[in-house]
Amino acid sequence: DIRLAVDELLKKLSLEEKIGQMFQCMASNFSFGGAIASDPPEKLVSEGRVGSILGAFDISRVFELQKLAVEQSPHGIPLLFNADIIHGSQTIFPVPLAWSCSWDEEAIRRACAISAKEATASGIIYNHGPMVDVTRDPRWGRVVEGAGEDPYLGSVIAKAQVEGFQGEGLSDPETLIACLKHFIGYGAAEGGRDYNTVDISEGTLRNVYLPPFRAGIQAGAGSVMNAFNLFQGVPVAANRFVLKELLRDELGFDGVLISDYGSIDEIVHHGNAKDNEEAARLAVNATMDIEMVTRSFEALPRLVAEGKLSESQIEEAARRILTLKYKTGIMDDPFRYIRPEKEQEYHFHPDHLMESREIARKSIVLLKNNGVLPMTAGRGKVALIGPFADSRDLLGPWQFSRYEHETVTLYEGLEGKGFGTNQLLYAQGSEVNAPLEGGIEEAVAKAEQADIVVLALGESSSMSGEAASRMSIELPEAQMRLAEAVAALGKPTILVLTNGRPLVLQWFETHPNVHAIVESWFLGSQAGHAIADVLTGGYNPSGRLTMSFPVHGGQVPVYYNHFSTGRPVTAANKQEKYISKYIDGPNDPLYPFGYGLSYTQFAYSDLRLSSDKLSASGELLASITVTNQGKAAGEETVQWYVNDCYGSVVRPVKELKGFQKLALEPGESKEAVLRITSSDLAFWSTGEGEVAENGSFVLFVGPNSRDTLSAEFELHD
Ligand code: IFM
Repeated sequence: DIRLAVDELLKKLSLEEKIGQMFQCMASNFSFGGAIASDPPEKLVSEGRVGSILGAFDISRVFELQKLAVEQSPHGIPLLFNADIIHGSQTIFPVPLAWSCSWDEEAIRRACAISAKEATASGIIYNHGPMVDVTRDPRWGRVVEGAGEDPYLGSVIAKAQVEGFQGEGLSDPETLIACLKHFIGYGAAEGGRDYNTVDISEGTLRNVYLPPFRAGIQAGAGSVMNAFNLFQGVPVAANRFVLKELLRDELGFDGVLISDYGSIDEIVHHGNAKDNEEAARLAVNATMDIEMVTRSFEALPRLVAEGKLSESQIEEAARRILTLKYKTGIMDDPFRYIRPEKEQEYHFHPDHLMESREIARKSIVLLKNNGVLPMTAGRGKVALIGPFADSRDLLGPWQFSRYEHETVTLYEGLEGKGFGTNQLLYAQGSEVNAPLEGGIEEAVAKAEQADIVVLALGESSSMSGEAASRMSIELPEAQMRLAEAVAALGKPTILVLTNGRPLVLQWFETHPNVHAIVESWFLGSQAGHAIADVLTGGYNPSGRLTMSFPVHGGQVPVYYNHFSTGRPVTAANKQEKYISKYIDGPNDPLYPFGYGLSYTQFAYSDLRLSSDKLSASGELLASITVTNQGKAAGEETVQWYVNDCYGSVVRPVKELKGFQKLALEPGESKEAVLRITSSDLAFWSTGEGEVAENGSFVLFVGPNSRDTLSAEFELHD
């Protein structure tokens, strides 16, 4: 029994050894900002002064350090090996923002399971993911790591990711400890600037940012990482309300809480503690267990000696860490994750690449198409132009694959579809962020000889992710100049985007020569094949946006599930002055949440409710018929939204409550059904807690959050 084993072990450990479990160091001597007394990892490990290691990507290094821990540290306690396995280990999958657009929880679960299988074969045990922050501001670089702006979809995807990483349970050495990050509110950084101030209400915290964490904890995530930001003026790393009362007591999380890199020291920079010692005390008081790449926790022995922290607080933290170690099986078999023969077998396995291609295709969102797509090999010449036309920078941030050089480029993807060298006219045209000498001239010359132009533009991997916020969410200037020159030729032009955030695409949407826009994000190892599958119709695009795309950068944050105002804009009043609107542009985004086109057309009809009344203990069934009216088979994502018309606190104009994916042959109709109970309508209200309040509701259904049919119902006792 794990509990007894941990109790027995704790009896044998000195205070310093218990504290040692709470320390972490990097696998190499490198650290950002100088960690534990700058002692080398070998010394820390053999003295039992560290319980986990960050960033050991080489299996022989994992073996070396684990051997030292087991053979030389005082009690031979094995180490945990931590890494950020965000969207793949060696086989890279689409970035999480991309895969969220698949709305396909099974595919996401499989991608995480494969990532776990590949990572654990190399000795990695503890993941620093998934990131389940709700993201509303595309300037924030980390939107690329999340599932977008919706708490409901975010919860479905959080659960799928935890289940994928952790499988049937951590005792299986092919599973990875999932760590939900960043608890909580990180996505609300002011101005979209990473690490910036967050100032949100408890209602927003609970109704918007909390649901994906709750879902991940219910799915059994072994760990949680704190956010860098403030909540109500107190840094989360030091925030007892957030970490102890909300996370542990209310949500029942009893796993390991790890601090994000540097966030305990930063309690001092925020101005909430006078020095690192005080910061360490606050963090442990808030129930922090591990300090990532330890610096401040060095003060723990002193804090206990001075009676500022109790030994039992340290023991509780050590207990949680050791319990997790027992759950993974390393206490009995410390080398069970270190399996070079499995590395050989699993890494970049063809089956994994197939899964990667499959989910990559599902992640692509067709934003515009006037009929130019799909295109066929053999019909005319294609000018393939742009910095992403033949680039391998298609993996996105947070990946450490040794197979980066095998990433399939768009050029290679089209070649694979039978486009010969005499049919594909390539020109880079521009660098990602700077003009290329003679680039535009060459691109124009190639485009002039072609019948169709594929313009592959976007952001490099380093332009999104941590510490990669942008003021402007336009395409870089140099690429816009290239696009203007090429589009001016009048050839049918298809824009293929590689990027990690919603961009401003108004110019492309309204340009008559830009016939199609394909949002392909960072799609991973098989990117080029997946894009080519969509461009040529081998796969009918089915992705739906999970973040709104603004008309203009000045609109952000712009998200579908906003509140009404006291002066909402309507079709009837939009010419009036004193209403909530911009005088120089629309309030609505260019492409709303849930939006995405297909090579076929779907029609919605016959919305029905089983009743227009729902009792607190009853249920309501809503149904809609969806018909494929086009000539291609395709997949539609039917989206159900609700508006709670009035309440003790105001509710968003629309909130996603369910979705169904329907595969439809040409001419085929299917029914989608939503079951609604009062608990689906509950929210957190100040002073009342979780409640579903009686009153009027509107139910919406449609292909996205904007183009919906609706029906009304009442909730009553
Ligand atoms: O896991 C990340 C975290 O999301 C941001 N700071 C660095 C960590 C490294 O593991």
